[in-house]
Formats: sequence, structure tokens, C-alpha cells
Amino acid sequence: MIKLIAGNWKMHGTADSLAEIEAVATFAEKYAGAVDVALCVPATLIHRAADTVPGFAIGAQDMHHNDKGAHTGDISAAMLHDAGASLVIVGHSERREAHREEDAAVRAKAEAGLAAGLQVILCVGESLEVREAGREIEVVAAQVDASLPQGEVDPARLAVAYEPIWAIGTGKVASTGDIEAMHAAIRQRLVAAYGEAGAAVRILYGGSVKADNAAEIFAVPEVGGALVGGASLKAADFLPIVEAGA
Ligand code: G3P
Repeated sequence: MIKLIAGNWKMHGTADSLAEIEAVATFAEKYAGAVDVALCVPATLIHRAADTVPGFAIGAQDMHHNDKGAHTGDISAAMLHDAGASLVIVGHSERREAHREEDAAVRAKAEAGLAAGLQVILCVGESLEVREAGREIEVVAAQVDASLPQGEVDPARLAVAYEPIWAIGTGKVASTGDIEAMHAAIRQRLVAAYGEAGAAVRILYGGSVKADNAAEIFAVPEVGGALVGGASLKAADFLPIVEAGA
């Protein structure tokens, strides 16, 4: 299975950053067929980025589940698609926490994203409290069950990103054993939900992925790529991670 290495720029980036996107796109082209690469940029940059690097996967970091309507400040999947995005992240823990997004809302977004033709990266992950209580598998499996889009899915257009909250932006990475155990549990839920197609959905790891730990993480069974935050902002940091995934 070809790995997907996606950058999540979070609330970083203005027009000055287009050169970084161009550098990533040029590098990714060399590895076409060996690794899939995407950058999920702030909504304000999607259009310009997509115009600057046609053919390269530019994504969004959130969306509303409705097509249109009285939702001040929100953006629909159709609008993202129209702006040039080909994928979208839904259910990131920062949105689940700061915007109180529950599993049902995440599922609705994932379903709407797929229906609009976007590729969806659906995030799950446990808090430190849950991990310390030894309940991480149970909690993440329940998140997966309640957040996954219902019905049939094209595995090429859905990825699940396991991001332990305590590993995000902290420099702490889950151990390879913990990643393996969690990815196996997620795989089981995917197969229960989608049968054969569930075996082909990529499961990404996210949380302090850097150039110096990427290869070790990518060697873990069932790791189908990475969702990278801080280390995706500069091409110089991100490109070695892409290379490790190829
Ligand atoms: O979505 C990516 C993310 O939350 C991980 O961030 O900075 O730990 O790579 P970071």
C-alpha cells in the first residue's frame, strides 16, 4: 500500500508560504507512484496554492457538513472543492476539543466530504488521561465506530489518522509497540465496518513525526503514512519525511 504523507499546517501560512508548497510539490512529483503527498493549508491559501501547484493535492483542515446555508464563517465541501482542494481533514482533536465536535458531527462531515468528491482524513486519538487509565484502545475504537462514514467507501478516498493527543506538538511520540497495537485495533474496526474495503483504508500516525523518527514509524505494521503538523511547515523539514515514506 502506497503511504500517504499529509501535512497539516493548522493556523500557519500566508502568501509568503507558497514557495514552501511549490518546493514540496516539485519534490513529490519525483516520487509519484511511490508515495502520496498532500498539504492541508489554511482555507485562505487553498485557492492560491491549488493554482500555484496544479495536480498536487491541496487539502483543507475542516468543513461544514451542509452544502450551503446560514452558517456564518463556515465552508462547505463543495466550496473547498471549488477552491481547488482535493482532500479535507475532519475530526482533528484540536477541533474536537476547542469546537466541541462530537463523533456524530465528525461522521456527518466525513460523509459530506466524500459525497462532494474529496478525499477524507478522519482523525481519532486519546487524551493523556485516557492513556494513563489504560483505556486508549477502547476509547479510540469507540471513536472510530462512531465517526466513520456509513455505507460503502472507496478506500482510496478515506484515511484514518491516529493522533494521540499527548503526542501532538509535544515532541513525545507513541512507542512503536503502542502504534502497532492501536493501528491493529483500528484496522479491525475498519474491516468490521467495510469488509474487504476496510483492509485497504490507510491508517496514518500523527504526533511529533519528524525527519529523525519517520522511518521507524513507517516500518510499523499497519502504518499507512503520517499526518504531520509542525514539521510540515518548512519544505526542508517535510521532504525527508516524504522520502522516508517512499
Ligand atoms: O495533524 C497533525 C498534528 O496534530 C500533529 O502535529 O506538530 O505534533 O506533528 P505535530
